[in-house]
Parts: sequence; structure tokens; C-alpha cells
Amino acid sequence: CTMKKINIAIDGPAGAGKSTVSRKVASELGYIYIDTGAMYRALAWKAIHSNVDIQDGQVLSSMLESTNLQLTYAIDGNRIFVDDNEVTDDIRSSEVTASVSAVSAHAGVREKMVKKQQDLASSKGAVLDGRDIGTTVLPQAELKVFLTASVEERAKRRHFENVEKGRSSDLQMIMNDIQLRDDKDSTRKISPLIKAEDAVEIDTTSLSADEVAESICSLALERIQKQ
Ligand code: DC
Repeated sequence: CTMKKINIAIDGPAGAGKSTVSRKVASELGYIYIDTGAMYRALAWKAIHSNVDIQDGQVLSSMLESTNLQLTYAIDGNRIFVDDNEVTDDIRSSEVTASVSAVSAHAGVREKMVKKQQDLASSKGAVLDGRDIGTTVLPQAELKVFLTASVEERAKRRHFENVEKGRSSDLQMIMNDIQLRDDKDSTRKISPLIKAEDAVEIDTTSLSADEVAESICSLALERIQKQ
């Protein structure tokens, strides 16, 4: 049987559970998962390694133009490559995390990234997570979800994720970082983090990732049937 495919947009602040939930939803539906934050992180990584000023939007967007940014999809996780260097783990460093908001605030950078993301999702059957998917990247997405959670809960999740992966981690520092990034991401001029009018909001503070994924999958099945 051929089921129509849809695109699913999942937005929300840092640590709301977007990537875990998006991965689960994508695997449940047999869709690809596109982590748009990882794309901005990859550019931030390259900027740092090329000694490029992260405040210089012009240089960053022409650098992006000449960058071979590649995503691969696999059951055991997506991988990301910058000019043939695998940066899957490196883009999670605190150095990259501290620079990525500035990198992603430039209009020229966003314009090019959005175009890449639209291309990746053009054949449908994709779950995209980010900050502006429902508002800017895929305003026509058949399903839009906006995930939220308290700052404390979001910081705890990042902290335990770090601990689990053997990275050094400080809960208070993460909480400060999340608050700072929330402010930067929601007050920037271009494509700030806001809920799309037609997005379904889910507060994940007291829900497990499986519970959230399950709700989104049932919403998705409803929308697919309407196609
Ligand atoms: O989800 P994340 O923490 O990996 O995102 C990294 C940064 O990229 C985040 O500070 C905001 C920015 N971002 C964005 O501006 N637009 C997106 N669609 C995704 C991420």
C-alpha cells in the first residue's frame, strides 16, 4: 500500500527534547531526520577552525557557499561532514555551542541554510527539527509541533546526556547557557524562535521522550490519512 508522505516540523528551544523525539518519530514512520541545528553547528565548527570572525556575516555566508556540507542518515544515527571531515561529535563541543547562536543570526547564512534544508525535505517523508522550521523553512508542513519544557528540566536533560556520553558537564553552567541561548535565539531579528500559529504545542516537562513521540506519531497518522 502506498501511503502519502508528509513533512513534520518540530521547533522549540534548546533542550526541549527535539532531537530525541524527532529521531524516534522519523524511525517509527520510516522518514529521514534532518537536524538543522547540526547544520548551523557545522558552519560554526568550520568558522572556528578557519579563524573566521563569527560576527562577520558576509564572510560566513560566502564560506558556506563554498562548503561541502553533507548529512548521512543511518539507523544508528545521522552523521555530518564538512568538506569530507566528519564533525558529528565535534559540533557538540562547548566551543561550538558558544559560537553557534552568533553564526546562525546572520541573514545571509540563514538564507542559504534554509534553501539547503528545503532541498533536503523536497521529496517529503522528513522530520526536521530546529527553531524556524514551521515558520520559515517549511511553512506548508502538514504537521507542525512546538516543544517546550522548563529551563530546569531542559538543563537536566542536557546534563544527563553529557554524563551518559562521558563528557564533562556542569549543570549550573548548562542552565546559564540555555538561558543565554534562549534569549539570543528568540530576540534575534531574522527568524527568531517563535511558535507557528498552526503548530501544536506540547509541554514535555513531565513527559518521557517515548510519550511525546507517540503523541506526534498519532498526529502524523491523522494528517497522513487526510492527504
Ligand atoms: O538545536 P541546537 O542546539 O543544535 O541548535 C544550535 C543553534 O543553532 C541554536 O543556538 C540556534 C540555531 N538554530 C537556528 O537558528 N535555526 C535552526 N533551524 C536550528 C538551530
